[in-house]
Amino acid sequence: MIEIIRVKDYETMSLYAARLVAAQVRLVPDSVLGLATGSTPLGMYRELVRQHREEGLDFSQVTTINLDEYCGLPGTHEQSYRYYMDSNFFSKINIDPDLTFIPDGMTTDIDACCEMYDELIDFLGGTDIQVLGVGENGHIAFNEPHDYCFTAQTHKAELTENTIEVNSRFFDDPAETPHFAISMGMRGIMSSKCILMLISGARKADAVYGLLRGEVTPRCPVSILQLHPNVKLIVTDDAFVKIKD
Ligand code: GLP
Repeated sequence: MIEIIRVKDYETMSLYAARLVAAQVRLVPDSVLGLATGSTPLGMYRELVRQHREEGLDFSQVTTINLDEYCGLPGTHEQSYRYYMDSNFFSKINIDPDLTFIPDGMTTDIDACCEMYDELIDFLGGTDIQVLGVGENGHIAFNEPHDYCFTAQTHKAELTENTIEVNSRFFDDPAETPHFAISMGMRGIMSSKCILMLISGARKADAVYGLLRGEVTPRCPVSILQLHPNVKLIVTDDAFVKIKD
């Protein structure tokens, strides 16, 4: 079941998203939040930081689990997702750093790291809200398009050329863009009680189509959300152009 909230622009999307996350944290102070990186949720994080500073939004009992991390980047690397989360969000709110979980991109035992991540998700009972962005090719976390299967478990993902090219814009030397990542699988994402999907920009119009009108297929990973009972899609008008009703 996908509830569609259409908004005019990125700022409005970010504000609505932050309000939903803030409401969750106010109602259930020890919530487990599933968090995402990328340019899409930056405005939401900014608004949550503002609410923390100006309205006393309290994260002291919150636990967070992130979707993914690049293989080979330490948390001190400016393009690692750990660095992104620390600098854009965690360092600006009163969260307990020990309760912020992101896969370790420098692990020497990827299989054990992935297994532990899934055990952690199970131990926490899944996330209360999972914030999600989407790649231009329909990937969620780093679950890339695949010909015949979705991957359930947390796993080492090989990034597609499109994803590497799109994400290389953040790297000083584009050739440094990692080709592999550790990604939460579909089971971890789909076990969330509520998916908060944020999509903005004309480049994401095909992904919106795949999410709302396409068949459920691993060729368009975001389409799996059609099977989730509680998805809130906040989408800007420019990303909605391929949906006619
Ligand atoms: C990366 C992340 C995804 C994110 C996607 C879109 O590949 N692994 O979680 O949704 O980028 O990024 P952006 O929001 O910058 O378009």
